[in-house]
Amino acid sequence: MDHAQTNAVYSASADFIAQAHVDAAGYERMYAASVSDPEAYWGEQGKRLDWIKPYTKVKNTNFKLGEVSIKWFEDGTLNVAWNCIDRHLATRASQTAIIWEPDDPNQPAQHISYQELHDQVCRMANVLVSQGVRKGDRVVMYLPMIPEAAYAMLACARIGAIHSVVFAGFSPDALANRINDCQAKVVITADTAPRGGRRTPLKSNTDAALLHCSDRVRCLVVKHTGDQIHWMDGRDVDVKAMMAQASPDCPIEEVGAEDPLFILYTSGSTGKPKGVVHTSGGYLTYAAMTHQMTFDYHDGDVFWCTADVGWVTGHSYIVYGPLANGATTLMFEGVPTYPDAGRFWAVCEKHKVNQFYTAPTAIRSLMGLGPEWVEKYDLSSLKLLGSVGEPINPEAWSWYNTHVGKGRCPIVDTFWQTETGGHMITPLPGATPVKPGAASKPFFGVKPVVLDPTDGHELTETATEGVLCIADSWPGQMRTLWGDHERFEEAYFSQYKGYYFTGDGCRRDADGYYWVTGRVDDVINVSGHRMGTAEVESALVAHAQVAEAAVVGYPHDIKGQGIYAYVTLMNGVEPSEELRKDLVKWVRTEIGPIASPDIIQWAPGLPKTRSGKIMRRILRKIAENDFGSLGDTTTLADPSVVDDLISNRKNRG
Ligand code: WTA
Repeated sequence: MDHAQTNAVYSASADFIAQAHVDAAGYERMYAASVSDPEAYWGEQGKRLDWIKPYTKVKNTNFKLGEVSIKWFEDGTLNVAWNCIDRHLATRASQTAIIWEPDDPNQPAQHISYQELHDQVCRMANVLVSQGVRKGDRVVMYLPMIPEAAYAMLACARIGAIHSVVFAGFSPDALANRINDCQAKVVITADTAPRGGRRTPLKSNTDAALLHCSDRVRCLVVKHTGDQIHWMDGRDVDVKAMMAQASPDCPIEEVGAEDPLFILYTSGSTGKPKGVVHTSGGYLTYAAMTHQMTFDYHDGDVFWCTADVGWVTGHSYIVYGPLANGATTLMFEGVPTYPDAGRFWAVCEKHKVNQFYTAPTAIRSLMGLGPEWVEKYDLSSLKLLGSVGEPINPEAWSWYNTHVGKGRCPIVDTFWQTETGGHMITPLPGATPVKPGAASKPFFGVKPVVLDPTDGHELTETATEGVLCIADSWPGQMRTLWGDHERFEEAYFSQYKGYYFTGDGCRRDADGYYWVTGRVDDVINVSGHRMGTAEVESALVAHAQVAEAAVVGYPHDIKGQGIYAYVTLMNGVEPSEELRKDLVKWVRTEIGPIASPDIIQWAPGLPKTRSGKIMRRILRKIAENDFGSLGDTTTLADPSVVDDLISNRKNRG
């Protein structure tokens, strides 16, 4: 992306600023306080929550390799579901907590009040207890975007169980790996998941996954569509039927601030997915606070985050942040283009959405279908727009601003990660004039630093470019990787000593704005979904006819990055169109549709160093059709493979 053309600056209107939680002077003052005395600052912010036993210690964190330990509010106790539901009942029992919009626009939407949310969550919690789930046990969810997904998450929180939501687009194998890694006692799924008029067979995928899991794992099934499914007596449980019988009351479990709330698997640069662990007190404080400040959420607003609950964005900004704030949060089962490309805007009009939060990839795909789909709807309820997942390119930003925001809604471009729990670098809409494409300024308590990638020294000049690290802890930070604290230290604290390494590169301009430029490791960002190139490679090499594979990202108009796979076949195997299709299908089965390679190039050889390391830098350049700047190839064991790859690439066009 070319940042040079994007030097325009946009400020919110005077009216917006006048009603905002934070203005420019407030940001400067509060930011300075938050980083100069984190104890005092977060000690105050933690009071957003109801504590059973109030904390006396606020921060106890250490980024030193070998001793990494992160604790916030460590001697406090609380219950997350209480904070998201019960404490609101005195004033908001009949207020809508969740608006559910189904995939099929002809089906009725649901408005679930805080009282109903309480009752459903308690019923679900009682069902979990009846299945033997106790504090600290793991519960995996593989669900459509239906209210039961939120009920199940909060039910776990209520009884102190740890949930791990697996995106419904993952394959049975990927689901099985996650169930096994966290040794879940229970998996909660649904019969089928309608999306864009089609149905994903979640229950049969779960049946397939469970063949690879302990036969003690119980399978709780939400009968959502009523589609025919296979049923295994003794293992499968009809959740809705049991909830109907269960009590709408369930006592809360008192948990420590540092007890895990959830595990969420995400892709890393090496090996199998990482089980990111978030805990209760710090995570909820941070999710609630960022939800209120970044989106300038006010009581009575209708907030819509279009993410799936299978990703961290759905955790923090559909469920935990909004509900902790007593908000009305919208949950959408469908896709932006069903039944037509106007669906997002139809839903905004129908439910009078005030804040709308989506990903650049969605904007780009809608942009291509024309502004007439937006113009058909009354979007006057919108006050603010948000973006997340990757840098938003200037064209998409402009389209979003003009056609959706009508030039009057501030746009917040929020940079954060599964690991960070909530926004890290983001404009605050009443405080930060926006530059399209820049995530802009750090959130309260966040100390970003730009380091030199070669020797790790801090680049202190304001205008500079390097890798993005964070110098000190914030309450929403992940605490460990499930069952592998060593890998946690290795992945995030070993490259740049004393810092948390984000894996991203960034530029800081003369005004101190941060522009995140994308991953500098072997993680790629496909339609805002994180994908480890190593995961796709190991799926490919598991195929009987593949000898070797190397996967890189390449620029893709809609997806941001596409998946480009170089594949070396076994001796004697001839490349064919059929085999190409077969490999794509194979990866879909191994990981899921989101990992399907966009391009497969047959590679008789891969560029390797003499020690056998694949030189991805060169493969990236070739995938980008950029042959002029391949850099030094003299260290290659066999430089001629590069010429072969280039001529094959050129033949592809
Ligand atoms: C990228 C999603 C630029 C970044 C919340 C990060 C972004 C990765 C932005 C995390 C943004 C996310 N601008 N890049 N506003 N938001 N990213 O864990 O590369 O799915 O490291 O979390 O997405 O992806 P994850």
